[in-house]
Amino acid sequence: MTLIQVHETERVFHLTNEYFSYVLRVEEGDVLAQEYFGQAIATYNGGRYYPRVDRSFSPNFPEATDRLYSLDTLLQEYPGYGTGDYRTPAQLIRHEDGSTVTDFRYKSYEVIKGKPRLAGMPSPYVEQEDEASTLIITLEDPKERLVARLVYTIYRDRSILTRSAQIQNVGTETHYIQKAASLSLDLPLQELDVITLNGTWGRERMMERERVKRGVKVFDSKRGSSSHQMNPFLALVSPETTEYTGEAIGFSLVYSGSHQMMLERDSYGQTRVQLGINEFGFEWRLDPDEQFETPEVVIAYSANGTMEMSQSFHSLYRERLARGKHRDAERPILINNWEATYFDFDEDKIKSIVDESAALGIELFVLDDGWFGHRDDDYTSLGDWFEYETKIPNGLTGLADYIHAKGMKFGLWFEPEMISKESELFKQHPDWAIQIPGRGLSKGRDQYVLDFSRKEVRDNIVHQMIEVLDRVPIDYIKWDFNRNVTEVFSAALPSDQQGEVLHRYVLGLYEVLETITARYPDILFESCSGGGGRFDPGMLYYMPQTWTSDNTDAIARLKIQHGTSMVYPISSMGAHVSAVPNHQTHRETSLKMRGDVAMSGVFGYELDVTEMSEEEKATVKDQVTFYQAHRRTFQYGTFYRLKSAFDSNHPAWMFVSEDGEEAIACDFSVLSETAPLIRVFKLKGLDEKAVYEVDGRRYGGDELMRVGFYIEPVVKGDFASKLYVLKKVNEHQGGQSK
Ligand code: DGJ
Repeated sequence: MTLIQVHETERVFHLTNEYFSYVLRVEEGDVLAQEYFGQAIATYNGGRYYPRVDRSFSPNFPEATDRLYSLDTLLQEYPGYGTGDYRTPAQLIRHEDGSTVTDFRYKSYEVIKGKPRLAGMPSPYVEQEDEASTLIITLEDPKERLVARLVYTIYRDRSILTRSAQIQNVGTETHYIQKAASLSLDLPLQELDVITLNGTWGRERMMERERVKRGVKVFDSKRGSSSHQMNPFLALVSPETTEYTGEAIGFSLVYSGSHQMMLERDSYGQTRVQLGINEFGFEWRLDPDEQFETPEVVIAYSANGTMEMSQSFHSLYRERLARGKHRDAERPILINNWEATYFDFDEDKIKSIVDESAALGIELFVLDDGWFGHRDDDYTSLGDWFEYETKIPNGLTGLADYIHAKGMKFGLWFEPEMISKESELFKQHPDWAIQIPGRGLSKGRDQYVLDFSRKEVRDNIVHQMIEVLDRVPIDYIKWDFNRNVTEVFSAALPSDQQGEVLHRYVLGLYEVLETITARYPDILFESCSGGGGRFDPGMLYYMPQTWTSDNTDAIARLKIQHGTSMVYPISSMGAHVSAVPNHQTHRETSLKMRGDVAMSGVFGYELDVTEMSEEEKATVKDQVTFYQAHRRTFQYGTFYRLKSAFDSNHPAWMFVSEDGEEAIACDFSVLSETAPLIRVFKLKGLDEKAVYEVDGRRYGGDELMRVGFYIEPVVKGDFASKLYVLKKVNEHQGGQSK
């Protein structure tokens, strides 16, 4: 199948696979217009014609011969500012004479096999050239001697299109880019809902859905990170769309810094959507011969509801965004000492947790915050990445040897991007904390953000980490980030480049991540930012898993993990069983329920196992054995949401293994009910012709999906769960049901 069909005479580009068609046309005046994005069509015949109408107050080109054609209403691909389109432009550039008009017109195109990499930025990739094709369209503003290249990659076997843009200065003057969206897409008149994932610390990725109304709406982060507050994702769906029916277009920005997602519904009911680096406070100096590249947006299209959209993201991010030997490997069951001890530990305490965990079958011990400098609380030592000998007298090597001798792996916490005022590093380099000279430094957890836009700062941290990692046999790293930047400024940049600091910070971070992850390919990395404050595709490129939330309460996690699953695969979501009453919500839930919720992720524990009763330890042992037996299905199976955690008292989801031989369906009950309803559990994703066994009974796949089975009512109070393991029986429909 030709993924990119080019109709030279009509000047039409048709990107298509079996899932969707994306059609562009070079319109009158060489304007790159959007024709269609939706379910696949075999051939685009080009009969559609932009309606020529004289619209008052909609300007016409300087060279126009009549009044019938205006950019103000045309569906476009990378609209500029100041030539008649009064909607939000995709780019805003200040030129040397102070004007800000840009007018990019079509120049040429190129089709290449595969997918090019972005320079210094993460993006999904291909392993074989024939997995995808790329269309690069070159636009030019001849007056300003600026070139814009729009890059579109369509995957052959995935309902995925990616887009990014490059702006190049081919003239002799300096320009200042004030905005460069990664993507601008205009959709024709239709009713649309927008779905976002917003929240705050401990309440990440709450799903919200609302109608797109007339006007401009911006969803963004100005924090220098992708943030707890607004994940860099949105979906546009039709008002009728459900999880399993209707159109859904998901947009996911592969970027870990301040981002902006803009929706504008115009006077004619058309909708413009844009994603990219946040233009707020952004300005990039573009000298002659220089090029600026935007991060990439991944678009997942579904004609069959939001679940299929999520599944397209899941498989792409699992298989072609995550990298390295852990990408496809089963992830270890870990225990982390943070909620068990916080800063209050010594070597003996750690060893006692390790002893107990090893006996329970847990596979990886993670030493969290507090092992370095002289860190007994969160006021000191960030930036001093050497052992705190008082706490661990035998050093990290001694501890690693002890843990390895127990048959467990050893993991370690770092927060490389931060500095404490009370640290050796601050004494030596007080100016390395991001700050404005002469202005106070706002505190965040009493720590400060290092200026990762500066090479010498990055090099220092990389060297400190290498010193530890070359010496100590470490199997896993948790990479934390516990505050957002304030007083944005870099001592290393001139005044007309201060608008570049936040993006340069992100580029610097990516450089450090590339250096460290490439040097230690055996280490499994987990990213974290006070839980899920930087749960984004950019970080997943370097680190295949993320600590989903500091909120470990099983009930709160139902929503957090549901929301996260809109975009991110289960193999990327760290989920731990913690103590009760829960440290964040003070709620008490059973160990079973905590286990069942955490198993719907990359499973682990975060409590003091030495304080557990024998009965609890026996439950933990069972959970570990169960997860080990079904880990592949949980982590790499196809995930289906069945009942929403946001509007049901009985959220439910399920997993179908890669080979289809087993499925695990999870039913949760939040509050108990008097005279509970008689609930029927209907499943998804099964082989309708196969027979399955569950709880000693046999059902056809079609029965399970259409008829369902009765769920036993919960009679023992609030907060309950049940996991149903389904095994395909070696028999086809037509055999006997018991
Ligand atoms: C925030 C993380 O999310 C926690 O899990 C823990 O690592 C703390 N930081 C340590 O300071």
